[in-house]
Amino acid sequence: MEEGDLALFPGASFATRNHDVEYPFRQQADYWYLTGHGEADGILLLSKGIEGLPEEGLFVLPKDSEKETWTGVRLGPEGAKETLGFQEAWNLEEAEKLIPEAVQKAKRVWYRIGDHSGLDKQIVGAVSSSRMKARLGIHPPEALVEPTHVLHEMRLFKTEEELSFMRLASAVSAEGHMLAMAQSTPGMGEWELQALLDYTFRRNGGDGWSYPAIVAGGANACILHYNTNHQTLRDGDLVLIDAGAEFSCYAADITRTFPVNGTFTPDQKSVYQAVLDAEMSSIESCKPGNSFNDVHMASVRSLSGSLVEFGVLKESVDEIVEKELYKPWYLHNTSHWIGLDVHDAGRYKADGEFRNLEAGMCLTVEPGLYFSENDDRVPKPLRGIGIRIEDDILITPGGHENLTLAAPKTIEDVEAACSAERVMPPVLDTELLAK
Ligand code: GLY
Ligand code: MN
Ligand code: MN
Repeated sequence: MEEGDLALFPGASFATRNHDVEYPFRQQADYWYLTGHGEADGILLLSKGIEGLPEEGLFVLPKDSEKETWTGVRLGPEGAKETLGFQEAWNLEEAEKLIPEAVQKAKRVWYRIGDHSGLDKQIVGAVSSSRMKARLGIHPPEALVEPTHVLHEMRLFKTEEELSFMRLASAVSAEGHMLAMAQSTPGMGEWELQALLDYTFRRNGGDGWSYPAIVAGGANACILHYNTNHQTLRDGDLVLIDAGAEFSCYAADITRTFPVNGTFTPDQKSVYQAVLDAEMSSIESCKPGNSFNDVHMASVRSLSGSLVEFGVLKESVDEIVEKELYKPWYLHNTSHWIGLDVHDAGRYKADGEFRNLEAGMCLTVEPGLYFSENDDRVPKPLRGIGIRIEDDILITPGGHENLTLAAPKTIEDVEAACSAERVMPPVLDTELLAK
């Protein structure tokens, strides 16, 4: 920020689920990153060299003993200063007057327009009314600056403190996957495995999930965002689980695919090994100097070779890659950034080219193969098999660290985890309870 700059960042508000029931509150990631303030409806104000404004100020919900009795204790302005170290803090009502005044004093305003209609309106209103005040020496700001170019570049490179939350989320998520492997059995509901994962995340102190879990038995795995999780697991099928916990708003994102009954069939083994080989070659390419796209291309090349081996395609690997002939069976990207958002902030390209990986970046590696039940291009025994394997990778100066290595993924380790003893939470007799 330069002299005369103002920046405004709103936090999240509660969203209505139905009638007077709200969705669980989740703080907006940029706001959380900058403030550490976990309450709803806050606004962060930053300024540089503007008379009468602090460098760092926070608008927060006021103390209100009656409201706090219903919905919980609030920091209030004094608490925000003491607990979060802000130079200045105000009751939220003051924003209505102070924000337009601040906008009219600013040379430039850093603000992400389009995310918060209330604050958008206030800022546009202040700009508009400043045009009527030229004779008072008040003028509109020279520029509205999109803050995410700078801020999301910061978020892309994780600090040790951030990594400690990501390691925790990863370890607990791996534990959830292992519990699901150990407990899975034919006849069980996909929803039951989902509940075991969610239980594990909360049981171990996580905020909960970082995205709703995908628990997809058999051919459901070929629906990429299947998360109704309402079908029964069948003997002889695989189950694909894509689930991760969140700690202090930091995500893990793990996918494992394993046999419902604990033992891979030979056909399942061969597709599984193809996806695992692709994943391992992409993880190998996770190092400083390689580009984000190199990671994707490693999986694309490996999977293309496997599609030839399975007799699905006949062309050379080069032709398959060049013409993207693999796409009917591998249609998504291999990676995304991960952090405060599961699909995290940060640019993927610079000057039109995929950027190089650098130490401190975190990305997923998640190749898959999806052979739908009715796809007659695929040999019959492989139809209905959908497999994805996903890990979370930190780029280090010397290469990478796999944050989610604890979740088993070789055929041998997965089968061992499926037959391991792992303690279940108690199951209540709901029929009896309902009486
Ligand atoms: N769980 C969402 C994803 O894998 O990107
Ligand atoms: Mn995932
Ligand atoms: Mn992912």
